[in-house]
Amino acid sequence: MSIDIQRARTDTPGCHHVLHFNNAGASLMPQTVIDAYTEHIALEAQIGGYEAADAVRDRHDAVYASLARLLGAHVDEIALTDSATRAWNMAFYGLDLKPGDRILTTQVSYAADFIAFLHRRKTSGVQVKVIPSDDQGAVDLTALDKAAREGAALIALTHVPTNGGLVQPAEEVGQIARGAGIPYLLDACQTAGQLPLSVAHLQCDMLSATGRKYLRGPRGTGFLYVRREFLDRLQMPTPDLHSARWVDRDSYEIRDDAKRFELWESNLAGELGLGAAVDYALRIGIQPIRDRVRTLAETLRVRLAEISAVRVRDLGRVKCGIVTFTHDDLDARTIRDRLREDRINVSISDPESTLLDATRRGLPPMVRASVHYYNTDEEIERFCEALHRIS
Ligand SMILES: Cc1ncc(COP(=O)(O)O)c(C=O)c1O
Repeated sequence: MSIDIQRARTDTPGCHHVLHFNNAGASLMPQTVIDAYTEHIALEAQIGGYEAADAVRDRHDAVYASLARLLGAHVDEIALTDSATRAWNMAFYGLDLKPGDRILTTQVSYAADFIAFLHRRKTSGVQVKVIPSDDQGAVDLTALDKAAREGAALIALTHVPTNGGLVQPAEEVGQIARGAGIPYLLDACQTAGQLPLSVAHLQCDMLSATGRKYLRGPRGTGFLYVRREFLDRLQMPTPDLHSARWVDRDSYEIRDDAKRFELWESNLAGELGLGAAVDYALRIGIQPIRDRVRTLAETLRVRLAEISAVRVRDLGRVKCGIVTFTHDDLDARTIRDRLREDRINVSISDPESTLLDATRRGLPPMVRASVHYYNTDEEIERFCEALHRIS
């Protein structure tokens, strides 16, 4: 099945205003997402926030069902959050880690995740073991397998790092984790909406992601998956009157589904927008999205490599829609700012966002040009011409 690109662009008002290669930052929302979001705000303004929540209860329930479909999960395994980091934190800080417990992770861990490891090293005395990368930049599965056999309390993987096109072998990591009986937390923040995600194939116990990136949802949205059988292995970092029920003076009962990781208050408009974004992506099909994104990104890499001052920095045998590069004569911020004058959007990947990888490879701040299926070959040409002009 191929994607009707013209239709996708007509559905996306932002396409008429900007050339958007910042989909790994926040994608342009399709009209159906904008409508779901703004219509709910309008309803809240008209009839009241609580009353509006009652009026859309079924549609709000359907958001969980849509996310469950996206992941091949059950609805009671999904929690809505306000960001990927919040989702990841709820899982990570729910783990009962003891002094000496080992966390196995990789050289492309996202900064927020690694800072949390360091924090728990300080507060709980855990050890953090970074598994080396193979010659293509992915996690070395043999080294991971060996470390897993030696014992660990957690394997934490960033599926696609924020700083490049690398796709980690998340399913193989899942096999190792399940085989060794080690909890597996997958940061799928850059993956959701651009690569198929099946929690059964991934064999992960916990998965976190955002709405605003490849899913094309609103900002301030995210979600957490926790495998049913794993729910009670996590402690509740912050129970409230939604995640728990106050039963008498001395006790409370935690609810029995993944909503225990939510708080009572939430941004319903954003969550409805997220649901619309997931439905839109599922209608198009995640496989065709993956194929088109991969093809566009490869074209962009090839075209960039033809510009003599540009160095493409992506790693990985398998790559996705994120393309990072440096320029011999111009720093990344100058490039971003000059492109923005032409209404071309890219972002910066700073060394601090993936410090281990940046240190290992001696990476300066890089330009991150991340494509989505609604981008076109013509935009890639325009992008490269603009780069030539400023070079
Ligand atoms: C790999 C990865 N994980 C986690 C996050 C954090 O997502 P959020 O800003 O929604 O908390 C990002 C954001 O860029 C990311 O790239």
